[in-house]
Amino acid sequence: MNQVRNAVVFLVALLLLANVAFNLAWADHDEHKGKKWYQKIFDWDDNDHNGDDDEDSDDDRNNSKHHGERYLNPVNNPTYQEQCGGCHFVYQPELLPSGSWEKILARLDDHFGEEVDLDAESKEIIAEYLRANAAEYSSAKRAVKIMRSLRGQTPMRITDVPYIRHKHEDDDIPPDAFQRESVGSFSNCVACHTTAEKGIYDDDFVKIPK
Ligand code: HEC
Ligand code: HEC
Repeated sequence: MNQVRNAVVFLVALLLLANVAFNLAWADHDEHKGKKWYQKIFDWDDNDHNGDDDEDSDDDRNNSKHHGERYLNPVNNPTYQEQCGGCHFVYQPELLPSGSWEKILARLDDHFGEEVDLDAESKEIIAEYLRANAAEYSSAKRAVKIMRSLRGQTPMRITDVPYIRHKHEDDDIPPDAFQRESVGSFSNCVACHTTAEKGIYDDDFVKIPK
């Protein structure tokens, strides 16, 4: 009996050792440079715990494997693109919770002072796309931060999300930036976020036009 137990203990110890060795080797792998092995295993980001998001170290910016987690998914619904992209940038559904999108679609007759004409079929397709891909179903960092900052609120504007507002109250942004003719308004994300269409809002890719 003792022999069996010893064998089991030995096996468990061996497995643990192999695991550590594997993780150490893994941490040296190119893809994971800059992160400690325990951060990779649990997908930790030390900076992420300070509430702000300076988490964007350069290590896996171009690592498409992490695309789904790091960045928002680019808009890929042609009906939404066509019907909602005529007047402004097509916002990724992950920028608002489904409750917000529902409210927006319920009031298209008075859409921020404009009337948006939508046939019933398109409206249904758009509603389903926005609902299914809304912020609360996303694991992308920005979406998680948006949801966390909302605490159950469902604003009609992305620019009314506390996290988004807070990010633009930075001293580095000239006070007149949002009023510039080249920008138009705070709602025109793509004027400053050169990679907004790809769902990438990292400050490294921001360029405020003159
Ligand atoms: C006829 C033009 C027009 C169309 C079509 C249109 N919008 Fe808008 N939308 C506007 C205007 C104007 C604003 C306000 C922009 C501003 O304040 O600068 C706006 C703002 C928004 C905002 C808030 C942006 C912010 O400030 O955070 C969202 C979200 C939005 N629209 C979603 C949609 C959706 C979804 C559709 C398709 C069903 C759509 N829009 C179609 C004109 C339009
Ligand atoms: C006038 C230019 C401008 C417009 C318009 C604008 N942004 Fe920004 N945004 C910035 C700047 C500059 C920063 C970097 C702030 C800083 O220094 O942390 C930023 C930061 C952000 C961040 C945080 C990025 C990071 O790395 O921490 C997000 C998310 C974001 N913007 C989303 C949006 C969205 C969504 C819109 C449209 C609804 C928008 N922005 C419109 C200039 C703009």
